[in-house]
Amino acid sequence: MHLTREEEKILNGEQGEARAFALRVIVKVGEALGADRLIKIKHAHVSGASYSTVGRAGLEFLEGIAGMGARVAVPTTVNPIGFDGEDVGAIPYTRITRDYYEAQIGILRVLVKMGVEPILTCTPYYTDIAGRYGLSIGDHVSWGESSAVLYANSILGLRTNREGGPLALMSAITGLTYRAGLHTSEGRTPKRMYILTGKDAALNEAEAGVLGELVATLNPDESPPLLQARFSSEPSLREFMAAVGTAGPLGMVYIPGVTPEKPAIPSSIEKIEVEYGEVKRLLDERAPKGVPDIVYIGCPHAGLEDLIVLLRELRRAPRRPRSLVAVSVSREVYRKASADGIIGELLALGVRFVRDTCLIVSPFGSVARGRVTVATNSYKAYYYLTRKGVETYLAPINELIARTIGG
Ligand code: F3S
Repeated sequence: MHLTREEEKILNGEQGEARAFALRVIVKVGEALGADRLIKIKHAHVSGASYSTVGRAGLEFLEGIAGMGARVAVPTTVNPIGFDGEDVGAIPYTRITRDYYEAQIGILRVLVKMGVEPILTCTPYYTDIAGRYGLSIGDHVSWGESSAVLYANSILGLRTNREGGPLALMSAITGLTYRAGLHTSEGRTPKRMYILTGKDAALNEAEAGVLGELVATLNPDESPPLLQARFSSEPSLREFMAAVGTAGPLGMVYIPGVTPEKPAIPSSIEKIEVEYGEVKRLLDERAPKGVPDIVYIGCPHAGLEDLIVLLRELRRAPRRPRSLVAVSVSREVYRKASADGIIGELLALGVRFVRDTCLIVSPFGSVARGRVTVATNSYKAYYYLTRKGVETYLAPINELIARTIGG
């Protein structure tokens, strides 16, 4: 890989031990992936900040880097942690032990010491990334968190590979990443086009998630495919992207009319039909049975549009839900929705908000002894909660609320 004189100096430790270490890691990964050189990034988003995800080894790794004097070189934000920092008891059926609390605060403290902005959300794109970080179409960033990576490449027109949390942090420390994969035009050239057949109406968020699962599992490599399908809303698109990131290694999907970039489409592009009947069959299999203990919205963290739809459904209902309705959300969206009066009204209707975290990256269910049931509109939450041993069902928000209200 070609390195500039400035980059050589960083590698030789002229800008400190931490930068030298971080750049060595980036160069190694870049060489393994065939990168020709390094490129500057404008922003990093680090995943793996929850103690549930990274454990003691993660905390020690971060302490080691910070001990070398690491500081981020570009604006850097971070994913959710293991509890709500303003209301530690907010996660239902969950106990945060003192040891857990202290270890999690330790992780957060180290990240903040390095200059990371603790937005604690997997939806950094719901903050004003243009105004705050100067990001616009075509900019190179280094993001962990697969759902955010897919959103960044496919909807915002940013360029990022699907980084692991540590590599995004190394890029944050150096302000550099390797030029390969989705940073390059060749890496962004589609080879396949998926066409949804048998469905004229736009997809709701649960259907979108299942379609994302099918596309991700059908696609045999990491070249970003094109997709012909219609989505009913921004949350549906977000759920599609999160599902693609959950079910396979893709980091981008082109959606005509949504993706700002127009790719050069090779004449040899392979066309694959996906029958809506398959989406429907999988959704029917996963539909709620009975009234769940929790209706869970907000994986990835809910945006304003999700909250508006939830409020509409709850206002319409003849009585209060029998399930606990829990929503995970970023502090930023919570603040905006509070200013609009949406949070106050949802709280009055019995909705529980969980900020800074979610049911997946927290010790959710630690006091439920496997008895709690969840119904969600998020394929990603369905996937991970099921694997955590939680009985979980999948349906769009209107059906979830109708089910918990009953006839
Ligand atoms: Fe975000 Fe947690 Fe889902 S971090 S994407 S809400 S698993």
